[in-house]
Amino acid sequence: MTDTPKHHDGILILDYGSQFTQLIARRVREAHVYCEIHPGTRSLEWIREWRPKGIILSGGPNSVYDPGAPTAPDGILDLGVPVLGLCYGMQIIAQMAGAKVVGAARREYGRAVVTVAGGKLFRGFRTGEETAVWMSHGDHVDTPPPGFVLTASSPNCPVAGIEHTSKPIYAVQFHPEVAHTARGGEIISAFLFDVCGATPDWTAGHFIETETARIREMAGTARVICGLSGGVDSSVAAALVHRAVGDRLTCIFVDHGLLRLHERDQVEATFRRHLGIDLRVVDASDLFLKNLAGVSDPEEKRRRIGHTFIEVFEAEARKVGPDVGFLVQGTLYPDVIESVSPTGGPSVTIKTHHNVGGLPERLPFKLIEPLRELFKDEVRQVGRELSLPEEMVGRHPFPGPGLAIRILGAVSKPELDILRAVDDIYIEEIRAAGLYDDIWQAFAVLLPIRSVGVQGDFRTYDQAVALRAVTSRDGMTADWFPFPHEVLSHISNRIANEVKGVNRVVYDVSSKPPATIEWE
Ligand code: XMP
Repeated sequence: MTDTPKHHDGILILDYGSQFTQLIARRVREAHVYCEIHPGTRSLEWIREWRPKGIILSGGPNSVYDPGAPTAPDGILDLGVPVLGLCYGMQIIAQMAGAKVVGAARREYGRAVVTVAGGKLFRGFRTGEETAVWMSHGDHVDTPPPGFVLTASSPNCPVAGIEHTSKPIYAVQFHPEVAHTARGGEIISAFLFDVCGATPDWTAGHFIETETARIREMAGTARVICGLSGGVDSSVAAALVHRAVGDRLTCIFVDHGLLRLHERDQVEATFRRHLGIDLRVVDASDLFLKNLAGVSDPEEKRRRIGHTFIEVFEAEARKVGPDVGFLVQGTLYPDVIESVSPTGGPSVTIKTHHNVGGLPERLPFKLIEPLRELFKDEVRQVGRELSLPEEMVGRHPFPGPGLAIRILGAVSKPELDILRAVDDIYIEEIRAAGLYDDIWQAFAVLLPIRSVGVQGDFRTYDQAVALRAVTSRDGMTADWFPFPHEVLSHISNRIANEVKGVNRVVYDVSSKPPATIEWE
């Protein structure tokens, strides 16, 4: 994240490591107010320069009295800027304001009911009204600090909400950003609009307007290139940049032969025919297959696909012309947020997802990352506003290495064709059942297992496929999707009857964790 503040009058969210921090940002943006997440260690000077309309201190796993526990910079409560503390954020405020934070005999985690005493955050509530909230804390504040009054309480947590009598400082011990807090949205809106006086002008239309102007100015008269993958992010990024620089945009689509059925045709139809973009399609499937021959280790597959992609893309990009100055990347906000690790330890790499990470360093172009402030659902909104087709905007995520990580073991052309046919039937039937949008991601996996079957009077000895469908918020955790039996049964019949080489279909009922979404 650049340290030069670009947006003033937004909401600054200081992160103390809560698993819900991104949800706070989601709720603020849903109220059409711009916000950014930054580490809680920012200096007072930095915050002042950012010029927030309001500050939200997130929750976090620490205890304020632990040695080295993160806190807010001195003076933050005297900036004259409204501050809202949530959970750990409330404890920071209370401690700074001179209250005692005490450890609880036991942690309170989950649903609770608080009784509203009053105050600006609760203006939509009656005094004495009970409301369901989500609690997740060990410590709590004993009595409101000097200058503060009580705004909410619960039997387990007598000081569940406080506000200052003369300064715009508010705090709640529960999590209004979590859906289980029944009227959390109202509480956050009260802070944004009644306390901070924020303007709800963060909309897809507004974003497109300001972003196209920015891209136009940045690109000047140079040519811009953009790699398309067929996925939502690169499609929306390309459409947005096209709106800004018109025919000075050239898109490159590398067909690595690991795509789904008709995927290349759809990209050509949308970008070349519908949007009139200069699209160069490179069919490099033979090269990818050659480089993947005999490789069965998942990470080695990813590595080889990544390297081959860079090689092919770079060669094509250099052909576009001497006036190319910029490369578009579909980076999203969750990739940009500086993550706060409460333990400070390194995280292990489960899978190498940044397949094309080396590209920007290899090419002498500056980067345009028009989506780096957006969450996925905002990207979809922008795509709709740019009139991209719904099938493209609402698409399930598809991994960069494509079907290669859905064929367990070494990848071959005949197996890719089998998997494409299976995947096509599966997705078609999910759409026909009206379930596509209820599922976060659905796909088939071709297993290196042969089993005995019977077809007519013949014995078969063919491959098995596993079907996977999951619900998820962000891909970090996931649960398997409970299909109605008749849908699964219909899909299974069609696959086994229509796809030669497959005689057995199984459904994956694993959640993540302990499994991952993809099998490799
Ligand atoms: P896992 O399998 O790690 O997947 O639970 C989480 C999400 O990431 C996608 N995924 C990938 N995306 N390159 C990608 O661009 C990859 O190598 C890769 N591996 C997994 C997966 O489809 C899911 O959406």
